[in-house]
Amino acid sequence: MFEEKGYEFVKNFFDPTELLEESNKVINLAYKKKWKYIKVYHNIFLSNKINCFCISFPFNKFLNSNLLDKLEKVNYKDKLLKITKFKDISSSAIELQHNQKFNYQSTWHRDWETLDSGNVVLILFLTDEKGFRIIPKNLEINLRKDFPDVATKNYKIGYKNIPKNYFDIIDAKAGDFLVFDSGLLHQGFAKGKRTHLFIRHNDLNDSLKANEKFYSIYNFKSYLRPDAELAEIDSIANNDTFNFNINYFTLKNKLKSIFNLINYYIPLIKFLRFIVDLKKKKTHFHYSIFQ
Ligand SMILES: [Fe+2]
Repeated sequence: MFEEKGYEFVKNFFDPTELLEESNKVINLAYKKKWKYIKVYHNIFLSNKINCFCISFPFNKFLNSNLLDKLEKVNYKDKLLKITKFKDISSSAIELQHNQKFNYQSTWHRDWETLDSGNVVLILFLTDEKGFRIIPKNLEINLRKDFPDVATKNYKIGYKNIPKNYFDIIDAKAGDFLVFDSGLLHQGFAKGKRTHLFIRHNDLNDSLKANEKFYSIYNFKSYLRPDAELAEIDSIANNDTFNFNINYFTLKNKLKSIFNLINYYIPLIKFLRFIVDLKKKKTHFHYSIFQ
């Protein structure tokens, strides 16, 4: 399946109980101790919280995390190597992706410019989650014929209304995992609360292995290890496309989140755009109750 579609969905692979319990502790502590490395893509008002997208660097000792131990217990590495046919893996990113309450829908995008990218995204579902959309490799050729603007390098194509016959929808239960080539077009989608782990795994050859020091059975990069110092994390975080230096608790940002809250339940602007878009070239109700 991976060779043909560029992704594989494995059902009922692990017991999510301990990993979810540990993840909830990390999320709560990240809020309580004001962990700087939280990504927020659309801040809708929540009292005393921010509408986070994910906790980055979740293994760090700052968060008293036992997440790595629990992840090693899941022990998915052999299965992943079998699916991808990679000789070994390294792991360059991990995010604890969590929605507290509101619907979430990303743009259509790729995490990598090209297909057969040599790296994959792994999603370990810790709660039931329906709606993640992915365009299989074997359907992309036809998609490009019908929509020439969906070229490989054009990796962000916004909220284009791609016909349903081009994409698969993943209906995941806690304990399932999804692995996909980072170059595949996909769209994050969740209604209400969700928690999963997102991990980027790279094909690891022997020369790379000899040149770098890795951590754990999954060969995590050194900045992801639990005792990584904050200065080391900061230098990595500064290279991220996301800006971690935003204070969401300023009056201006709080007011903006209240504005987003009103738009969530009464999406008037989105409704007007929907009416004006006569050919329905786009989808419009992302980040709203009508998503
Ligand atoms: Fe993505």
